[in-house]
Amino acid sequence: MDNRFRKINRLLSEYSLGNFNKKLRISSRMDEVDAFIMGVNMLGEELKDKTISRDYFNNIFNSVSDMVFVLDKQGKIENMNVSVTNNLEYDLPSLKGKVISYLLDKSQPDWFNHILQDMRASRTSNYEGVFKTKNKNNIPVLISASFLIGENNTKGGVLLTAKDISIQKKTQNMVLKAIIETEEKERIRFAKDIHDSIGQQLSAIKFYIGASADAVEDPRQKSILLKANAALVDVQADMRNICFNIMPKSLEFFGLVKAVEELSSKNELLGRIDITINEAPDFPRMSLQQEFALFRIIQEFINNALKHSKADALGIEFKYRKKMAMISLRDNGIGFNMSTLRNHGMGLSNVRSRIRPYNGEVDIISQPGKGTRYEISIPMDNNE
Ligand SMILES: Nc1ncnc2c1ncn2[C@@H]1O[C@H](COP(=O)(O)OP(=O)(O)OP(=O)(O)O)[C@@H](O)[C@H]1O
Ligand SMILES: [Mg+2]
Repeated sequence: MDNRFRKINRLLSEYSLGNFNKKLRISSRMDEVDAFIMGVNMLGEELKDKTISRDYFNNIFNSVSDMVFVLDKQGKIENMNVSVTNNLEYDLPSLKGKVISYLLDKSQPDWFNHILQDMRASRTSNYEGVFKTKNKNNIPVLISASFLIGENNTKGGVLLTAKDISIQKKTQNMVLKAIIETEEKERIRFAKDIHDSIGQQLSAIKFYIGASADAVEDPRQKSILLKANAALVDVQADMRNICFNIMPKSLEFFGLVKAVEELSSKNELLGRIDITINEAPDFPRMSLQQEFALFRIIQEFINNALKHSKADALGIEFKYRKKMAMISLRDNGIGFNMSTLRNHGMGLSNVRSRIRPYNGEVDIISQPGKGTRYEISIPMDNNE
């Protein structure tokens, strides 16, 4: 047998092992076998080029610090870079074939479809989300996605990158916290000023008017002075309410639940609404700042219920589950549609930003005709 066939055989087995550098020399015969050898050599060149570009791609793929996923059209993970393992502690075999939303901290079955829809509408598809690591730690991420364009310009799978934004989030939260705390401090000062200066002076005026009413003989004058006195009592009560709304003293001394009870009783006394409060015995005390944040949210909830809902009953529930302080707020009013809400007030967006610095969350759930619910949760560990 022609010795060259044996050589070709050996060369092909080298190629199959990924060694594409070898080539066979063409003999002086220049016959069909040599033509075949030329073909095999060309195959080697081509395979070498492909391998170089594959290695080049793999190098980039694995050296970027962002997590990169190659997904199929259903969002199933086909491949991922080293950064995913570094960040989320999963290796490829344990994630291969799983749908990408498996990594989200909360179950959102439609999540990948939303991404696809956004990409089809060629909107920039950037999302903030939270990935859960194998050891159940949360990592906030900025996700962007694009179609992988295959041969003939067809859309293949999806390339999804996720950037760890924990540091940015932490800084954002610190800034937010500082702003809110400064604002609360300013409110405390303001309430104290009103209470101490105007409050004192009102008491003095009331005393003088009372004394004059006692002293005058003329019944008409007496009745006017008594009316003035009664009006002053109302002013004092209003002032106390205003001070309480700006800065509830009971919050500092007796905690969130007592302050909410006081806030509720003021609204109930005004005959406006029936408020039921339930507190689980293990509902925890928190830092003053956290309790302030929660108080402001409950205050906004009650104000919104009074202003918009036409409800006649509110329920406020304080619970403690799995190291989370949870507060449910409900009204039985007309409800509203979150997605078609045009004239957003400050209220609802403030509600979210108040709790964010403490890694808490507020779900606002409302439907026309079905009332409104806020579900608040705030973790009791690792939240500074
Ligand atoms: N409990 C509720 N029942 C019915 N509609 C509500 C309720 N809470 C809010 N809304 C609707 O949502 C809108 C936005 O509420 P949001 O608290 O953000 O603003 P606002 O109360 O109008 O103004 P602000 O809070 O800034 O004083 C309201 O204008 C109202 O239409
Ligand atoms: Mg409001």
